[in-house]
Amino acid sequence: MKEGMTLKGIGSKVVHLGQASDPTNGALSTPIFLTSAYEFNSVEDGAKKCESYNYGYCYTRLGNPTLTVLEEKVAALEGAEAGLSFGSGVGAIAAYLISQLKAGDHAVVSDTTYSASHYLFETTLRKFGVECDFVDATDSEKVEKAIRPNTRMIYFETPANPTVKLVDIKEMVRIAKKYNLATAVDSTFGTPYLQRPIEMGVDVVIHSATKYLCGHGDAMGGIIVGSKKLMDELRDDTMKNMGGTLGPMEAFLIIRGIKTLEVRMKKHCENAMEVAKFLESHPKVERVFYPGLPSHPQHELAKTQMDDFGGMVTFEVKGGIEAGRKLMESVKMCVLAVNLGDVVTLLQHPASMTHWYVPKEERLKGGITDGLVRMSVGIESVEDIIYDLGQALEQIQV
Ligand SMILES: Cc1ncc(COP(=O)(O)O)c(C=O)c1O
Repeated sequence: MKEGMTLKGIGSKVVHLGQASDPTNGALSTPIFLTSAYEFNSVEDGAKKCESYNYGYCYTRLGNPTLTVLEEKVAALEGAEAGLSFGSGVGAIAAYLISQLKAGDHAVVSDTTYSASHYLFETTLRKFGVECDFVDATDSEKVEKAIRPNTRMIYFETPANPTVKLVDIKEMVRIAKKYNLATAVDSTFGTPYLQRPIEMGVDVVIHSATKYLCGHGDAMGGIIVGSKKLMDELRDDTMKNMGGTLGPMEAFLIIRGIKTLEVRMKKHCENAMEVAKFLESHPKVERVFYPGLPSHPQHELAKTQMDDFGGMVTFEVKGGIEAGRKLMESVKMCVLAVNLGDVVTLLQHPASMTHWYVPKEERLKGGITDGLVRMSVGIESVEDIIYDLGQALEQIQV
């Protein structure tokens, strides 16, 4: 894109931001730089590049031109100064937490997060003397009450995996500013198409790029965006010394996926709304959680905080765990798998699959009941998704 053009719509931004055709040959598509190292012009040049990524590429663990395109693209979409990519979403979360928390620190964590994030706080970080409290972050009073003199961070997910609970981003920022705390949000379910937390004052946005950003279920990746200072610090700290670098091939696939983020998300949202309405009206369904339904406890917040309601629908069938199992075993087009954000409609059972290692008490506190089914609504024709769910629900004997 030439200078002098300010992009207004997200459809143009996902295609053009953060990338230019290759200046040496005009290649329009992002080149995949499969190189581990970069030749130095002199000893002095090498010394500078080893000292800081800001002088140029040195070694791919610390930076690579294909990764730079992805990092700049997501940072631009989120309205952040800079980004840093990792080999997976969990890699990104772990790198951030390990770099920013130390023994004696305390974090307030929302009680519904991706299971590995929960485990990181509950088990891994505790081994190194970091304390945390899991609180229902839908209630900002509870968040504020959990703050101690040694609290350093508020960490949350919105919409949360798997219950699609929402956390009021501006409220978290207000509390964090009052106590001088860092704020980090996992916005994987949101994507920059639906919400841009940096614009609301959050310090750090984290994505499992494996999900909607990639969009096709064929690459793992993670990305953090925030201030340039913080991204430099993370690159020199946990990226450099713990690894976790994203591969350039995966970066290419994620960049390619992001270019269709708007068209995919529109269809995910449209389909999810239809599916949620169908499920809510079905006699064999106990409850449906979808931010777009007026019955969702934070529907009003969703309308102000998000541009649309997303592609994730969670529901409970009547008859508990057995009925849920029957439903999942009876679908014909929808697929049983633990990924999300793919073009394919995916179903999973958090209590036995993604969240099996979260202690039951904690799981229930976070709203993850035994009968809960999580559905990542794909971009297939919605009549087929609904037909498939309908025929599967018919198999359940209540
Ligand atoms: C909200 C959320 N955050 C983080 C992750 C972890 O991402 P990854 O699987 O890319 O490590 C997931 C995975 O499902 C997730 O759903």
